[in-house]
Amino acid sequence: MAEAPEGYIKVGDMKRLRIKKCVPVSDGSQSIAVFYSDGNLYAFSNLCPHSGYALETGSIKDGLLTCAWHQARFDVADGTCPDGFTDDIDTFEVIRIEDEVWVNPEPR
Ligand code: FES
Repeated sequence: MAEAPEGYIKVGDMKRLRIKKCVPVSDGSQSIAVFYSDGNLYAFSNLCPHSGYALETGSIKDGLLTCAWHQARFDVADGTCPDGFTDDIDTFEVIRIEDEVWVNPEPR
């Protein structure tokens, strides 16, 4: 059984992420959307700063996360909104231990 660093939240196994593409998790005070796209893992605040809808229904393409509601875009590297459509979002460290994925709930 994989041992995660203290304080990290278990997201699930890679099979689940490959199928669902995004798994939301919570630490009780915030929701974090963990995405799997093109072989990479990403984690963002699940709250779109534009109108407050969930980002978990968004999609990632060409290094940008696009919100499904009004198409705000965020750089997957640092959560910035490159076109200034809305505020930036927090990003989080995601780690994989064996086949399990964990996220650090402290923003980068
Ligand atoms: S709620 Fe995300 S773009 Fe409007």
